[in-house]
Amino acid sequence: MRAWIVLLLPFILVLVIEVNAQRRRPKPTVVRPTKRPTPLPPEPAEPTDLPPPLPPGPPSVFPDCPRECYCPADFPTSIYCDSRNLRKVPILPSRTRYVYLQNNFINDLQEDSFKNATELQWINLDNNKIKKIEKKILEKLDNLTYLYMEKNQLKEIPSYLPPKLEQLRLSRNQISKIPSGVFSKMDHLILLDLHNNKLSDGVFNKNTFKGLKNLIQLNLAHNILRKMPPTVPESVNQLFLDRNNIEDIPSGYFKELPNLVFLRLNYNQLSEKGIPKNTFNISSLLVLQLSHNKLSVVPPINANLEHLYLNDNIIEKINGTEICPLPFAPYDFSASDFSSMPRLRYLRLDGNQLKPPIPLDVIMCFRLLQSVVI
Ligand SMILES: *[C@@H]1O[C@H](CO)[C@@H](O)[C@H](O)[C@H]1NC(C)=O
Ligand SMILES: *[C@@H]1O[C@H](CO)[C@@H](O)[C@H](O)[C@H]1NC(C)=O
Ligand SMILES: *[C@@H]1O[C@H](CO)[C@@H](O)[C@H](O)[C@H]1NC(C)=O
Ligand SMILES: *[C@@H]1O[C@H](CO)[C@@H](O)[C@H](O)[C@H]1NC(C)=O
Repeated sequence: MRAWIVLLLPFILVLVIEVNAQRRRPKPTVVRPTKRPTPLPPEPAEPTDLPPPLPPGPPSVFPDCPRECYCPADFPTSIYCDSRNLRKVPILPSRTRYVYLQNNFINDLQEDSFKNATELQWINLDNNKIKKIEKKILEKLDNLTYLYMEKNQLKEIPSYLPPKLEQLRLSRNQISKIPSGVFSKMDHLILLDLHNNKLSDGVFNKNTFKGLKNLIQLNLAHNILRKMPPTVPESVNQLFLDRNNIEDIPSGYFKELPNLVFLRLNYNQLSEKGIPKNTFNISSLLVLQLSHNKLSVVPPINANLEHLYLNDNIIEKINGTEICPLPFAPYDFSASDFSSMPRLRYLRLDGNQLKPPIPLDVIMCFRLLQSVVI
C-alpha cells in the first residue's frame, strides 16, 4: 500500500500543476504532449532482486502436493508449478507424470526433486534460467517422453538424454555444443527443436544425428550455420534451416532424404552459384520456402510441389515454359486429368524485380495454381 502512495503522489502533483498551467494559459491552440516524469521501476538485477516467490495457494486435496504448486483433484498425475517465481523444483510426489514448471527462475535442478517421480513423462521447464542438467537426474527419468526447456541458458545439449524421449525442445538457449553420441540410442525421438541457438558448422559431423531413426522434425533455424548439416536422418519429414548463413547446398544433398516434405531455407545466402541444378527437384517435397535469399532465377522444381515461396529474392524474369516441371505441349485443357499436371497451388514471387501480370505461360503450366503473389 505504502509503495502505491509513494508512486502516486508525484503523479497527482504533476497532474495538479498541469491543470493549473492549462488554466492560466488563455487559449492554447496547440496541445503539445508534455513529458511527465514516470518513475520507472528499476530492472531486477541478478540474483538478489528476483521477485519473491508467490505465497502458497489453498491446501490441496492431496497431502503430498508441494505447497508452491497446484494439484488439481481430477488430474492426480499433473502438477502445476508454473509462473510462481520459483528458484527450485519442488519435491515431486511419486504419482507425478506431467509437471509444469515454465516461467520461473529455476537455475539448477536437484536430484531430490525428481527422486520419487520415476514415472515422469512430461516436463515443461520453458523460460527458466537453467545452465546445465546433470546426468544423474536425467538417467532416472526412464519414462520421460517430452522435455521442454526452451528459453533457458544451456550452453550444450545435456550429455545424457532419457532413452524414451519423443520430443526435445531446446530452442532459445545458447547451445554451441553437441556431445558426441548423445543421440545414438534415441530411436524414439520424433522432434528435435534447436532453433535460435549458437550452433556453427564445426559442431556437426556425419555421426551427430546417428541413431535418430524416427526423427520427423529437425529445426536448426536461427543458428550460425554456413553449410548444410552433413547428415540429416533419413526419416526426416520437416527440415527447418531458416535464418542461417547458408550459401550453398552439396550436390544430391536431398537424395539422402526420401521422406522430406517441408523444407524451409528462408533468410539465408543462397544464390544460383551455390545450388546444383536439380537440388530442389525432389518428388517427396510439397512445401519449399526460399524467401529472403539471393536467387535470380526460379530453380527447377518437381511436379509434385504444392507451395513455393520465392519472395524477396532478386528474380528478374520468370519463363513458364522453362520452369514447367512437366512437358508443356500435350495438355488437353478440357480434360479433367489433373494427375498429369504440376501440383503447384501457391506461389510467392513478391519482393523480386518482377512486375505483374503473371506471364501467361506460368498459368498455362501450373493449371492448379490458386494463388500467386507477385
Ligand atoms: C518419496 O518416497 C519415499 C519412499 O516411498 C517416501 O518415504 C517419501 O515420503 C517420498 N517423498 C515424497 C516427497 O513424496
Ligand atoms: C516406466 O518405465 C518402467 C521401466 O523402465 C516400466 O516398467 C513402467 O511401466 C513405466 N511406466 C509408465 C507409466 O510408462
Ligand atoms: C526433375 O526430376 C525428374 C525426375 O524425378 C526428371 O524427370 C526431370 O527431368 C527433372 N527436371 C529437370 C528440370 O531436370
Ligand atoms: C521461354 O523459354 C522458351 C524456351 O526456352 C522460349 O522459347 C520462349 O521464347 C521464352 N519466353 C519468353 C517470354 O522469353
